Amino acid sequence: MASNSLICETGPWKDLTAHVENIKKTHLRELLSDTERCTSMMAEFDGILLDYSRQCANLDTLDKLHNLAEAAHLKEKINRMFNGERINSSENRSVLHIALRASRDSVINNDGKNVVPDVWQVLDKIRDFSERIRSGAWIGATGKVLKDVIAIGIGGSFLGPLFVHTALQTDPEAIEFAQGRQLRFLANVDPIDVARNIAGLNPETTLVVVVSKTFTTAETMLNARTLREWISAALGPQAVAKHMVAVSTNLMLVEKFGIDPNNAFAFWDWVGGRYSVCSAVGVLPLSLQYGFPVVEKFLKGASSIDQHFYSAPFAKNLPVLLGLLSVWNVSFLGFPARAILPYSQALEKFAPHIQQVSMESNGKGVSIDGVPLPYGTGEIDFGEPGTNGQHSFYQLIHQGRVIPCDFIGVVKSQQPVYLKGEMVNNHDELMSNFFAQPDALAYGKTAEQLLKENVPRPLIPHKTFSGNRPSFSLLLPLLNAYNIGQLLAIYEHRIAVEGFVWGINSFDQWGVELGKSLATQVRKHLHASRKKGEPVEGFNFSTTTMLTRYLQGSADVPKEDCTILPKM
Ligand code: F6P
Repeated sequence: MASNSLICETGPWKDLTAHVENIKKTHLRELLSDTERCTSMMAEFDGILLDYSRQCANLDTLDKLHNLAEAAHLKEKINRMFNGERINSSENRSVLHIALRASRDSVINNDGKNVVPDVWQVLDKIRDFSERIRSGAWIGATGKVLKDVIAIGIGGSFLGPLFVHTALQTDPEAIEFAQGRQLRFLANVDPIDVARNIAGLNPETTLVVVVSKTFTTAETMLNARTLREWISAALGPQAVAKHMVAVSTNLMLVEKFGIDPNNAFAFWDWVGGRYSVCSAVGVLPLSLQYGFPVVEKFLKGASSIDQHFYSAPFAKNLPVLLGLLSVWNVSFLGFPARAILPYSQALEKFAPHIQQVSMESNGKGVSIDGVPLPYGTGEIDFGEPGTNGQHSFYQLIHQGRVIPCDFIGVVKSQQPVYLKGEMVNNHDELMSNFFAQPDALAYGKTAEQLLKENVPRPLIPHKTFSGNRPSFSLLLPLLNAYNIGQLLAIYEHRIAVEGFVWGINSFDQWGVELGKSLATQVRKHLHASRKKGEPVEGFNFSTTTMLTRYLQGSADVPKEDCTILPKM
């Protein structure tokens, strides 16, 4: 494929487009009755089983998708990523989150320099610092142990760490190491989030970790200034040095903010924000809560998938299979959404994290060379843990729009419950739904079946399920730190595969900039109106009307410069 040409102009893309009609003729009921097909549509790595037999695809589709991968130079692109080439061309950066979890003896080059020693220097610093905090060797300004942590950050500096924290919270090993400690996350610039985060915490026993790749993000910096004030007001300004540390690539701004650079934990511009959970962004707050050895297992899990992704043949490669079939669903079958449905409450923050990884990465309108795309890229990702989602939006998934689903199940519960006299244990009850839902979506229920069940005729249209709705089932043996790392990396690489095939830059995020700059203008006008009584000007009718109403309705905010912190 020549540079500037689009993947949709290649033979394999056209071949797949032509193939759609064949597939549309075949219902999943038929596809699932083909044992040979189903046997070959399973892939396993390290105890993780992927069943993709409920995709609207046959073996021919897979061959054609592999041809598409070749036309997209997928293998070369993966190699370029692992080799540290600057594949994020619009920001002139390499994409090396794989180095964050590489073993100490690995060699991963960026611009000819092995970055693994730098990674481990920071990891060792985190291990040492988190042990000092956890053991009480590092104490707060009034001599108390810092048992609570508030991590301030947003987007990639928040969602990944929150997902991993939530997943570890009920893991027996992690629980043991988190005794007596709390980890909270302050992300939203909404003062309500400040109030909720500091509620019940004592500044004397709290460590604040400011996490920002750039150290310029408006929300994070205002929240950081707010908590700096919360600490200073209670303990005096000198206490900040003991109660605030930072994670950033911009150590100059960290120092300017007033945090000792010795208490800053670095990462690098070759780590994208949404791919940064394995850097100090996630490793520091998680190590403070659970201890470094637990977090190291999480890194090892992610690394095991990196190696699998790099070396397994595409036909057995979990992220590649997931990625190629996702492209098939979006670009050929025309299903633009994806539901992420973990049957584990511990994974309740997985879908919100993947929303950013996927939608910020692949929600693009031009190719990597800047050519407008005639096809849509990226999925509209959403999800909730089963079974909660079943009682919420599954109606639409079963009888409304077709939404390809990812069902994620775990063989052994983190917290098993057995009740005497119950037919099955509680985890079996949960998993009964995990096994039933994909079949309900695939097979549906016909009018004939309903007639046989003596369903009254007027109700038959309402009770009919068309079926033929695709899903993946991913079954993990356990949900411990190692497996959580694996799950993360499977999705990170799957999303990269999709972007590589679509020919886009999955590692920049220019689409978030415009809203930020418009907010800056509004902020200036709010200031001028409140402080100097200037009229709202320079906006369109709609914004002027809304802003005026807002200012009139909140005219009681103090005019003088003052500090007021939440009262709860
Ligand atoms: O939302 C845009 C974004 O740049 C994300 O990519 C990033 O994860 C987030 O803001 C936070 O950025 P930072 O870590 O620099 O504060």
